[in-house]
Amino acid sequence: MNQIGCRIIQLESVDSTNNYIANLLKQGNVTHGTVILADEQFEGKGQRGAVWQAEPGKNLTFSLFWQGVNLSVEEQFMITEFISLVLVEALGRFGIEGKIKWPNDIYVNDKKIAGILIENQLQGSQIISSIIGIGLNVNQKIFGDYPATSISLEKGSDESILHVLMNFLEVINDRSRNGVLIESDRHDEYVKKLYLEGELAEFESTNNGCFKGRIKDVGKDGKLQIALDGGLREFDLKEIRFIPRNA
Ligand code: BTN
Repeated sequence: MNQIGCRIIQLESVDSTNNYIANLLKQGNVTHGTVILADEQFEGKGQRGAVWQAEPGKNLTFSLFWQGVNLSVEEQFMITEFISLVLVEALGRFGIEGKIKWPNDIYVNDKKIAGILIENQLQGSQIISSIIGIGLNVNQKIFGDYPATSISLEKGSDESILHVLMNFLEVINDRSRNGVLIESDRHDEYVKKLYLEGELAEFESTNNGCFKGRIKDVGKDGKLQIALDGGLREFDLKEIRFIPRNA
């Protein structure tokens, strides 16, 4: 099985590195482990149809192709858990303690440092491959009103973008020996690393309005489980938002 990063293509400018891999896939021209890295994306994609904006040349914006995922659609959240943990471990190598803001934003304290966009290719109800896109703020220092941070802001000095990528690749390859992306203790580790896990925090849901509760767990289907009013309630992404601390 190829290692992730066995082939790295660096582009100056592209619409989206996820789209670039999707096009290579259509042409039958991409193999497991291919990484596409771009200095600039002019139509970078975020989650739920959002735009991913990053200052050109200052951040790590890349996608990787994972062939042979071998999971059913119902198990797709495992990929999210796995990649989130890889990012947290890679940041740890730079002395940065990242937390996972459910489902898959990486936060440092109350600010976003990285986002993940996973696009799966299905055959029936099986995931046959995944395009995993990652935007990680490295040397950007100004984010306007958005609560975001970068490796540079956290450490107080700039970091080589390629060095950050190499660390990410080492971690992902270490954690996925033989191309198997599922580790037995993955889920428990994911929950332990959740932003606000166990703390009394404020949320707003479509049905409950604003409420306070404690994050307890995440279901196999990726739903967030929050303890409130002596019970446990489950929410999917469309139903709930975190109310920022100090809001
Ligand atoms: C999010 O937090 O909304 C997800 C952000 C994912 C951004 C990355 S940047 C590289 C890859 N290409 C894209 O178009 N999006 C992902």
